[in-house]
Amino acid sequence: MAAVLGKLSNALLIGLALLVLAIVGFHGGFIGSDAGAWTQGFLRVVHVWAGILWIGLLYYFNFVQIPTMPAVPAELKPGVTKYIAPKALLYFRHGSLLTLIAGLGLAGGYLVEALTFAEGYRVIGMGMWLGIIMAFNVWFLIWPNQKIALGIVEADADAKAKAAKTAMIFSRTNFVLSFPMLYGMIGHGHISPV
Ligand code: HEM
Repeated sequence: MAAVLGKLSNALLIGLALLVLAIVGFHGGFIGSDAGAWTQGFLRVVHVWAGILWIGLLYYFNFVQIPTMPAVPAELKPGVTKYIAPKALLYFRHGSLLTLIAGLGLAGGYLVEALTFAEGYRVIGMGMWLGIIMAFNVWFLIWPNQKIALGIVEADADAKAKAAKTAMIFSRTNFVLSFPMLYGMIGHGHISPV
């Protein structure tokens, strides 16, 4: 068992196989019936999966890494800054991109209505704008500053400290925005499409 699940690629494949089993088991009878609904369903699963990847890592940074780093002894810090954080940021930023693309695809026919807060699309419009702002923060503020702070690009100690602070502030901003953003996501389909 450990030999199989010890490899991340194996675990991913098993997870995907179980997903297909669940789809066929629960909705297999509908396969081939409505291509539009299947595309929506596919985008929905991808969107929520990628959203968990992204926001899960955002919460890891905010609940675990940022508050714990000051207590990590100096000689151990490179374990985080050189190994763990770059890998976490890799999945974090690509998770945000996949969430954004699948989310825009999901909105499909009502994209303009949502982004302009038309009646019936205001709550999802709020969620989408917050998600878009958060994805922007990831790619254009957090990641460029993290590259400096983690030493992926050359910079002096002052620039590194400043970049770490900026990255932290925008990571916290996204943490704060994630609460109303999630409400916007579920509010449209599960509470009331106001
Ligand atoms: C990045 C920008 C994002 C955009 C443009 C976006 C867009 C959308 C759209 C259009 C829907 C469909 C709403 C509906 O018709 O019911 C949706 C649903 C949803 N989104 Fe997002 N989203 C974004 C970010 C996120 C993030 C970060 C998460 C975190 C997990 C998330 C989680 C969800 C959930 C749970 C649903 C409800 C799915 C359902 O109940 O069927 N979204 N999103």
